[in-house]
Amino acid sequence: MTSLQDYLNQKSTNTAVNEVILTIAEVGKTINHLLQRGAFADILGEAGNQNVQGEEQKKLDVIANDLLLEALTDCNHCAGVASEELDDATPANSEGDLLVLFDPLDGSSNIDINMAVGTIFSILPYQRQGQTATNADFLQKGDAQLAAGYLLYGPATMLAVSTGDGVAMFGYDPQQQEYLLIKDGVRIDEDTKEYAINGSNYRHWQQPMQQYVDEVIAGKSGVRGKDFNTRWVAAMVGDVHRILCRGGVFMYPFDSKDPNKAGKLRLMYEANPMSLLIEQAGGSSTTATQRIMDIEPNDIHQRVPVILGSKNEVEYIEQLHKNALKA
Ligand code: F6P
Ligand code: MN
Repeated sequence: MTSLQDYLNQKSTNTAVNEVILTIAEVGKTINHLLQRGAFADILGEAGNQNVQGEEQKKLDVIANDLLLEALTDCNHCAGVASEELDDATPANSEGDLLVLFDPLDGSSNIDINMAVGTIFSILPYQRQGQTATNADFLQKGDAQLAAGYLLYGPATMLAVSTGDGVAMFGYDPQQQEYLLIKDGVRIDEDTKEYAINGSNYRHWQQPMQQYVDEVIAGKSGVRGKDFNTRWVAAMVGDVHRILCRGGVFMYPFDSKDPNKAGKLRLMYEANPMSLLIEQAGGSSTTATQRIMDIEPNDIHQRVPVILGSKNEVEYIEQLHKNALKA
């Protein structure tokens, strides 16, 4: 069996990137352990404050954030760290050549009901060695990512990672306390009959998204000529993991629910890292009108519409949006 460390040594020559991935994976072991103990580790419930997004923080959001922040700012290669839970980036070792962004606990509404949650990370290059990293240093396109991945804390804890040369999946074996390779060269089927969307937002979507969902619900009797199935984990990590395992499409599209938000998901530590994994596995990732990893960011916490997964299905949804523009 190949360990995460052995895999990275063979796969990537960037030892700094490898070390950062291993650091995050180590913290993942602690988060996994806390989740296993659940109520007995006093990790459930609210922390009693809001994050920069105006969302109520759960206790485990704060704990996971602190653990990652401490481990990464301690790591020599890290020039700065940015998190969903912190307003501004935290500078670390100014001689480091990497920046790390993370969503410490994705899908946090699942914590208290003992359902799947995750950690998402994105690693970017840092070019201003010797100077203190600021928010502006993080504003790089998704295409600039050196590596990205997630930890999924489900019935088993798993890690998916890409260093820009395919996607590998590891399982965490609590007996050996090691991440062991389960699959390298993960590929997503181009076609699918499975879609993930929070349908309760239907009335807030634009016409092409409503049309798409109408079509898949019509199934065999409609223009698509086949039946579809809905799945929704309510943790992006869970939905993306399912898509990497058996295909599908995940959508958190543009909606008009809150005019100040361009979408729900955050570009820098949700959409970009997941887009790298999806594209590296042969899938596509778009806002509906623009490839996500092409977006020039203007804020570390900016939000974007997200449609990702099986290539042909994502292209079909993009086409519906193009048709609407022509009409
Ligand atoms: O991080 C935001 C997030 O929790 C995602 O992980 C998930 O896909 C989505 O929000 C769930 O949204 P909703 O609450 O609308 O189901
Ligand atoms: Mn999240």
